[in-house]
Amino acid sequence: MSILSYPDRGPWGKSSWRGNCSGYIYKDLFERLKPKTFVDPMVGSGTSVEVAQEMGIESYGLDLHQGFNILRHSILERVGKPVDMVLSHPPYGGMIVYSGEVWGDTAHPDDLSRCVDDEDFHTKLQLALMNQREATRPGGYYGTIIGDLRKDGRYCSYQAEALARMPSSELVAVLIKAQHNTLSERKSYGRMALPFINHEFVLLWERKNMAMFSFLKTVANQAQARLTGTWRNVVKQCLMGLGGTANLARLYSEVESKCDKAAANPHWKEKVRQVLNTQPAHFKPVERGVWTLA
Ligand SMILES: C[S@@+](CC[C@H](N)C(=O)[O-])C[C@H]1O[C@@H](n2cnc3c(N)ncnc32)[C@H](O)[C@@H]1O
Repeated sequence: MSILSYPDRGPWGKSSWRGNCSGYIYKDLFERLKPKTFVDPMVGSGTSVEVAQEMGIESYGLDLHQGFNILRHSILERVGKPVDMVLSHPPYGGMIVYSGEVWGDTAHPDDLSRCVDDEDFHTKLQLALMNQREATRPGGYYGTIIGDLRKDGRYCSYQAEALARMPSSELVAVLIKAQHNTLSERKSYGRMALPFINHEFVLLWERKNMAMFSFLKTVANQAQARLTGTWRNVVKQCLMGLGGTANLARLYSEVESKCDKAAANPHWKEKVRQVLNTQPAHFKPVERGVWTLA
């Protein structure tokens, strides 16, 4: 079952810790993946490690409130060896602010619940996941429990960003985790037609034997493939608008009139020619300077 739904949180951790997670989620994942060693680098009230200890799994709980900062300290160094599983449950979207509110008297600048904006969070979460990945043995699992958020009428998908910023060749599961007893569940949003977000995601990657440089290359290639695919689709859509066939001059003027990208990229004409010339499965020349959809 790829939907995890546990209304009861069980006896582990603290129900009073804001943003705590049901211990049954961890129990379920441990039963499936059978780690012998486990780290939670954002352990909060300790739910995950209490479950792990009960199941005889050697476990390590770290958190900013105990002086471990995932954006500055290496998990691998702190634990001293790579482990079978590293799973985090970060705060997101500033829904619950931790430093200075849930714990401590002052705001911590690296507290993930105090990011300045979503982009700041996305890049910091990527660094956290890279840190987790480094502490995972090849063949082991690293992952995160994260939700999406709708604010000011906009939907921000933290999980989609996390997936895009990590190597898709290592992704092994995206599970839905139903949320229960949340404060937002009890709120009323008046006219809003769309349903409340009542779920989070459990994203799991399996660490491959890939060094940092290959990791970087893989993630960069993913981003590049998306960009190339988008340019291809822009040119395709413009050619479709011109009846499927057009000369370069007409195609340029169609792209320019329809597409913000052209205005944003000073080399856009070059980009259009590059797409036409390098993607024979999508575009064919009919005669010199005239292109048609393949
Ligand atoms: C959603 S809570 C985890 C709750 C936990 N799963 C439980 O059941 O109690 C998120 C935790 O991330 C921690 N945190 C925030 N920024 C961090 C950072 N930079 N490094 C390590 N932990 C951080 C917070 O202190 C908080 O305890």
